[in-house]
Amino acid sequence: MTEKKRGKALNLGESRILIAGAASLVGSHTADLLLEAGAREVILLDNFAFGSMDAIAHLVGNPRIKVLRADLMRLPDLLAATENVDGVVHLAAYMTLGFAQTPWQAVDVNIRGAQNMLEACRVNKVGKVVFASSNAVYGYGSGIHGALVENGPFHSEGAPPAAILYGVSKIMGEQLCRQYHQKHGLDYVVLRYSTVYGERQHYRAANSLYIMETYDRVKKGERPLLPGDGKDTKHFVHVSDVARANVAALGSTATDIAVNVSGPEPITTGELVKLVLDYCKSDLQPEVKPDPPDTVRLTSGGAFHIPHELAGREIGWQPEVRMKEGVERLLAWREAQEAG
Ligand SMILES: NC(=O)c1ccc[n+]([C@@H]2O[C@H](COP(=O)([O-])OP(=O)(O)OC[C@H]3O[C@@H](n4cnc5c(N)ncnc54)[C@H](O)[C@@H]3O)[C@@H](O)[C@H]2O)c1
Repeated sequence: MTEKKRGKALNLGESRILIAGAASLVGSHTADLLLEAGAREVILLDNFAFGSMDAIAHLVGNPRIKVLRADLMRLPDLLAATENVDGVVHLAAYMTLGFAQTPWQAVDVNIRGAQNMLEACRVNKVGKVVFASSNAVYGYGSGIHGALVENGPFHSEGAPPAAILYGVSKIMGEQLCRQYHQKHGLDYVVLRYSTVYGERQHYRAANSLYIMETYDRVKKGERPLLPGDGKDTKHFVHVSDVARANVAALGSTATDIAVNVSGPEPITTGELVKLVLDYCKSDLQPEVKPDPPDTVRLTSGGAFHIPHELAGREIGWQPEVRMKEGVERLLAWREAQEAG
């Protein structure tokens, strides 16, 4: 048996960590945990294209936090930003809806932006890169069923072009990481998040958007919409679990590997709608209504799930937040927002 490759594990208590694309859902929660882990400095890099100061307002003023307005498309800025940095969590990207609405920017940021960041990390000898990938690397559509394991193929039959482009952009990012590792010895871990949801949720991710839309309708007294028969599968992961995975990957010796980061179990759209209705104490009945043809909704061909055992073995991580608790936390946060 060949010896498993081991890379640099960061001692978080002594580290300066840069989060690229920090002013949003995953970045802000990751920063919270890095501070808890004792990081010396956490640099929150963002161009605020769609992130916001609101997401990181609670961090501003902490002496170990530095907010840096910079753009991934400007390599000189990244070279300056990564000087004396020990680890990078690379999050900044466009998702499927972004590929549908602004494909030029999306291609630039997800591919050249990732390459720029890896180049800056190479030049400044950054010890570890965590690259945020997605279950979109398995594709969408009729080929998606069963267990989506890390060495599985990419499917595109019946999927909208924006979803395929997003998945392919993440495959490009992953392979750029591998190339930087092979050519330059840069240590990296790819984390393939499934749909992320939780407090500080935004409206940019097609599947978590469905939770928010359902909640918004029920609050207005409108029946929630089911785009199919309610048996369509989704596999979410709560943002606090994602943040723990980012921190675990930085502190692990794992390198040159991609692992799934998914929640404890998948859920059907019917079950998801019921969780929202239960939270709202509503007895409204869902209305079956197929999406209009141009909707970028990520439907699957059949029941699927995303195993995360490899992440357990490689970075010592497993999810903790089950769907019911996670949806309650998200909606409680949303209610608090509405209450001002
Ligand atoms: N949210 C999900 O459901 C989900 C699922 C799987 C994978 N992911 C991946 O996780 C990562 C983080 O997700 P998120 O929901 O927090 O993302 P997000 O879309 O909310 O945040 C991305 C951040 O990147 C910033 N950004 C965009 N272009 C930039 C540029 N050129 N330079 C600097 N900053 C830029 C944005 O302003 C934003 O704050 C992304 O890479 C995404 O593809 C997310």
